[in-house]
Amino acid sequence: MKPFTDQIKEKPWKGWVLFLVTIILVFCLGLLASSIIERRAEAVFAYTPKIEHSQWEPRNEVWGENFPRQYNTFLQTEDQSFKSKHNGSAHMDMLEEDPRLVILWAGYGFSKAYNQGKGHEHAIPDMYKIHRTGAPIDGKKSPMPNTCWTCKSPDVPRLMQEMGVAEFYKGSWETLGHEVVNNIGCADCHDAQNMNLRISRPALVEAYDKMGIDINSVSHQDMRQLVCAQCHVEYYFGEGKYLIFPWEKGLTAEAMEAYYDEYEFKDWIHPISKAPMLKAQHPDFELFQAGIHAQRGLACADCHMPYINEGGQKFTDHKVQSPLNNIANTCQVCHREETQELLSNVYERQDKIKQTRNYLEDLLVRAHIEAGKAWELGAKEEQMKDILMDIRHAQWRWDYVAASHGGSFHAPIESARILGTGLDAAHDARLKLARLLASLGYNKEVPYPDISTKEKAQKYIGLDIEKMETDKQRFLEEVVPVWKEKAKEREKTYKTKNL
Ligand code: HEC
Ligand code: HEC
Ligand code: HEC
Ligand code: HEC
Repeated sequence: MKPFTDQIKEKPWKGWVLFLVTIILVFCLGLLASSIIERRAEAVFAYTPKIEHSQWEPRNEVWGENFPRQYNTFLQTEDQSFKSKHNGSAHMDMLEEDPRLVILWAGYGFSKAYNQGKGHEHAIPDMYKIHRTGAPIDGKKSPMPNTCWTCKSPDVPRLMQEMGVAEFYKGSWETLGHEVVNNIGCADCHDAQNMNLRISRPALVEAYDKMGIDINSVSHQDMRQLVCAQCHVEYYFGEGKYLIFPWEKGLTAEAMEAYYDEYEFKDWIHPISKAPMLKAQHPDFELFQAGIHAQRGLACADCHMPYINEGGQKFTDHKVQSPLNNIANTCQVCHREETQELLSNVYERQDKIKQTRNYLEDLLVRAHIEAGKAWELGAKEEQMKDILMDIRHAQWRWDYVAASHGGSFHAPIESARILGTGLDAAHDARLKLARLLASLGYNKEVPYPDISTKEKAQKYIGLDIEKMETDKQRFLEEVVPVWKEKAKEREKTYKTKNL
C-alpha cells in the first residue's frame, strides 16, 4: 500500500475525511472530560458540609442539608403505596386480618390494636395513634413507659446524653411526649463528624458486652446490620423499665426462652388461661442470622438499603422498605433470575411458613379456652402448672416467628423448625388438658367462641373499644399539638453554624 501522504496527493478528499474524523474525536473527548470533571465537582459538592451541627442534633432536615440525596430518599419512607403479598408499607389492621390474635394477646396491649409496620417516617405519628399507648388526658397516665420511645427517634440519644440512660427509661410514656418528636433518623445511625455508622443505643452495646464481644471491634459489613439491630430485635423491660436484649444464652428462640424461664420473667398473665406469657417483639436480626443470606455474609442494608445511582453519583438508598419494591437494585445485584421468579421464591417460603403458623395459632386459641374451662371446673394450681408452661412456650415460639416480619424469607428453615417445636408444646398442653378436663367430669369438646371478626373477639375478652376511641381522639386533638409546639420552641435554641 502507498504511504498515506501519497494517497492524499492523489485523492485530497481522504485528507478532509481524516481531518473531520479527528475534529469529531477531539470534540467527543472534550465532552467526556468535561462531563467527568462536572461529576467530580458534583461529588465534591454533595459531600462538602454546608452546615455544622452536633452529634445530638435530632432534626433530620438539618443533617439533610449536607446530604440531600440521602435525606430525600429517607423522606420517601413516608410512602404507603407498596403492598406485597404479606408485607409492604400500606396500613393494615392485623387484628382485623386475623381476629385470633385478639384471644392470644387478651389482657395485653396488643389485643387493643396491632398494625402492619410502615416506613420509618411513620414511627412517631403511629405511636400517637395506636391504642396501646392509651390516651393520657385529664391527668391520666399512659399504660406504657418512656422505654417505648427508644426505637422511634433520634431525640432518644440526645435525651439519654442529657438525662442519663436509666433516668430516660423511667416514667410513663406521656412524660417525654414533648421531647421526642423527630422520626427515626440520621443521629440514630451516624457519627456527625465523619458520617461513619455509629451505634447510638446502649441496649445493643450492653447485650454485646454480656456476650463478651466489644461492639467497637466489629467489621464495617457487620455495622451495616448492627445499626438495624438497635431496634429490630427481641427485648424486654427489666427493673426500672430498663431496656434489655435477652441474648446472654444465645440468639435462638430456645436460648431466649431459657433465659426468660430462668428469671421467671413474664410480660403478662393471660386472663383466660392464667398462663405466665411472653410477648415476642420483632426478632428480625436474630432470626436473620439463621438464614443462608446471613451465612453468606449479607447485611440488612444489602437488601433494604441498596446502592443507587443518580447523576453519576452512587449512594445508599435511605428509603428503607420491602426489597420486593426494588428487586432490580437488591436481589438482582446477585441473582440472575427474572423478577417474577424471585418474587415467587419469596412468596413460596412465606406461604408455607404461614400455613404452619396458622395451625399453631388455632391450637393456641383452643388451649387458652380449654385451660379457662379447667379453671372454671375447679382445677388446682398444681394440676395446671405444667400445662401453663406448655402454653407459654408454644405461644412464645409462635410469636417469635409471627413477630419477625421478614423471618419467613430471611430464615425459612429455622422459622419452620421453631413452629414445629411450638406445635409440639401446644399438643402437649392440649393432651394434658383433655385428661384433666375428663378427670373433672368434662368429657367433650370445649365450645369454640365466635371470634370471626375483630369486634366479636374484642367483645369476647371484654374490651370497650368505643370509649378508647373517643379518648384517643381527644388526646390527638388536645395533647399532641401542645407537645409539638413545645418541641418547636426548644429546637429554636439549638446551635448550628452555616459554613
Ligand atoms: C437506620 C440507619 C440509618 C439511618 C436512620 C440513616 N442512615 Fe445513612 N447510612 C446507613 C447505612 C447502612 C449506610 C451505608 C453505609 C456503608 O455501606 O458504608 C448509610 C450511608 C450514608 C452515607 C454515606 C454515603 C452513602 O450514601 O452511602 C451518608 C452521607 C448518609 N448515610 C447520610 C444519612 C443522612 C443524612 C441520614 C438522615 C436523613 C441518614 N443517613 C440516616 C444507615 C442509616
Ligand atoms: C431507631 C429504631 C430503628 C432503627 C435503627 C431501624 N428501624 Fe426499621 N423500623 C423501626 C420502626 C419503629 C418501624 C415501624 C414504623 C411504623 O410502622 O410506624 C420500622 C420499620 C421498618 C421496615 C418496614 C418498612 C415498610 O415500609 O414496610 C423495614 C423494612 C425496616 N424497618 C428495616 C430496617 C433496617 C434494614 C434497618 C437498618 C438499616 C432499620 N430498619 C433500622 C425502627 C427502627
Ligand atoms: C449480595 C448478594 C445477594 C443479594 C442482594 C441477594 N441474594 Fe439471595 N443469595 C445470595 C447467596 C450468596 C445465596 C446462597 C447461594 C449459594 O451460596 O449457593 C443466596 C440464596 C438465595 C436463595 C436460596 C435460599 C434458600 O432458601 O435455599 C433464594 C431464594 C434467594 N437467595 C433469593 C433472594 C432474593 C429474593 C433476594 C432479594 C430480596 C436476594 N436473594 C438477594 C446472595 C444474594
Ligand atoms: C437477602 C435480602 C435480605 C436481607 C439481607 C434482609 N432482608 Fe429483610 N426482607 C427481605 C425480604 C425479601 C422481605 C419480605 C418483604 C415482603 O414480603 O414484602 C423482608 C422483610 C423484612 C421486614 C418486614 C418488611 C415489611 O414490609 O413489613 C423487616 C422489618 C426486615 N426485613 C428487616 C430486616 C433486617 C433487620 C435485616 C438484617 C438483620 C434484614 N431484613 C435483612 C430481604 C432481606
